[in-house]
Amino acid sequence: MAEEKFRVTIDGIPVDVTPGTTILNAAREIGGDIVPPAMCYYSKLEGSGGKCRTCLVKVSKGSEKDPRPMPKLVASCRTTVMDGMEVQNITSPEVVEARKGVVEMLLINHPLDCPICDQAGECKLQDLSYEHGAEQTRYKFPRRTFERIDIGDKIQLHMNRCILCYRCVYVANQLTDQREHGIISRGDHAEISTFIEKALDNDFIGNVIDVCPVGALTDKTFRFKNRVWFTKPVDAHRDCPTCSGKVTLWYKGADVLRVTGRKDAYNEVEDFICNTCRFDTKQTQDWILEEPTKIDKDSVITANHYNSFNPPAVIEQDLVLQAANEEQLERTERLK
Ligand code: SF4
Ligand code: FES
Repeated sequence: MAEEKFRVTIDGIPVDVTPGTTILNAAREIGGDIVPPAMCYYSKLEGSGGKCRTCLVKVSKGSEKDPRPMPKLVASCRTTVMDGMEVQNITSPEVVEARKGVVEMLLINHPLDCPICDQAGECKLQDLSYEHGAEQTRYKFPRRTFERIDIGDKIQLHMNRCILCYRCVYVANQLTDQREHGIISRGDHAEISTFIEKALDNDFIGNVIDVCPVGALTDKTFRFKNRVWFTKPVDAHRDCPTCSGKVTLWYKGADVLRVTGRKDAYNEVEDFICNTCRFDTKQTQDWILEEPTKIDKDSVITANHYNSFNPPAVIEQDLVLQAANEEQLERTERLK
């Protein structure tokens, strides 16, 4: 028997999805500009979503059976589709205006320190504030400020930048043996804490850095080493007994400045990686290099010399990679 499908139309584009799919994931099946932004939802983390409201959409028709529109905008990461549902995202001025308000709200306590933040260039809040943010804040009260906290010897928490998306809490909860940190207090006082500032010390905890949508959790081995758009990402793998060993190496010249999980089009890691791959294997010879990482053409990371990437260490060692670089360069030239 054919699998049951629900037809949902998002910004005028129809898509058939299995019952139980959220509006956000239905939009991701379509892809492109109509996909709502998501600052807290993370498809690989169970229970994530519903915290940040950046994914708000308008349901202009509830379903074929009950065509009444939903009375309020809904979080698309938490609302499942109905057959015949019609949804508006970027085609609704109401949604665009509401999202602008959400971004302004997220920025109330977030410092405007992009020029010195390691996350700059790959920060979703930076992208969103660029797209929707007002030029000036209307907030007159002092911002929340916290002391920086070292979570173990490799990760730093800078709570001033945290938007309380809970992703790191889910990582700790779902990827490691024991949960060692969480969100304490509520409302304006809420903060990420290890309760007794104890080190988060287990094999997969480094993934909190990759899932953090802002610069609140950063890699201390990479902090202030370079701007991300001056680095050259390369996909690589190694035979790792703990994780898949599939990573992205971020080169500056012949040096690997940092190692991260590989990310998909929605900035989510494809495979969570272990701390050994992330922190302890930063030599080219630790890895089998594959090809330059495919970076979205709109990303600032492609803005510099990325397309003419030929790191000296790699040229000597990997002819396949060099050929891939040249092919990519030719492709870029053709597109100009
Ligand atoms: S530290 Fe980062 S990942 Fe954790 S809740 Fe704050 S913003 Fe989210
Ligand atoms: S992504 Fe839906 S509420 Fe945050």
